[in-house]
Amino acid sequence: MSAVRSEIAPRGGVPAIRVMTVGALDAVLAIEVQAYPFPWTRGNFIDSLAAGYLARVLVADDGELVGYFVAMPGFEEMHLLNVTVASRHEGQGHARRLLAELYALSASFAATAVWLEVRESNARARALYLREGFTEAGRRRDYYPAPAGQREDAILMTRSLVRKQGRA
Ligand SMILES: CC(C)(COP(=O)(O)OP(=O)(O)OC[C@H]1O[C@@H](n2cnc3c(N)ncnc32)[C@H](O)[C@@H]1OP(=O)(O)O)[C@@H](O)C(=O)NCCC(=O)NCCS
Repeated sequence: MSAVRSEIAPRGGVPAIRVMTVGALDAVLAIEVQAYPFPWTRGNFIDSLAAGYLARVLVADDGELVGYFVAMPGFEEMHLLNVTVASRHEGQGHARRLLAELYALSASFAATAVWLEVRESNARARALYLREGFTEAGRRRDYYPAPAGQREDAILMTRSLVRKQGRA
């Protein structure tokens, strides 16, 4: 087990997961504006932190911010609002690590499922969620702003947090 882990661990050590604080927002926003055509604003993050939403950052050994997520706890469910990995750190399993942390934290909120919306055109994120065991549960028409004043549909996805019998 440990041999397998060391093979997949990124060079320079495994980044640490920490609580997102207001002090981290400059670094968070630097990634956010590069990752999305319609990024969250500083105010969106501040409101989420003030509301007590779950927010975590992934930080490399040298202090560089690798990624983050924000999720809103609800009645027996967790709503993932934002998960982002810095482009230069993509494809190394960091999003899957952030999602694993979200599932673990969701247990203490007695959440039985995670829900999220994803842009229909976001093939990379949709592939990630399918690999993570999410299924498509619906479509929200014209949910997102799109270039040239257009709108784009969201795909609603959900993943159970209830362990199936016989699975670890
Ligand atoms: C989507 C995003 C969070 C993925 O982060 P990541 O750290 O690169 O993802 P991971 O390395 O953990 O990859 C997990 C899965 O994503 C998929 N994936 C990774 N790279 C991919 C690529 N180039 N093309 C398609 N799918 C890809 C694979 O299914 C992969 O599974 P695997 O590890 O079994 O191969 C990241 O690309 C990102 O921040 N994008 C911009 C913001 C965004 O779209 N966020 C989601 C909004 S809903």
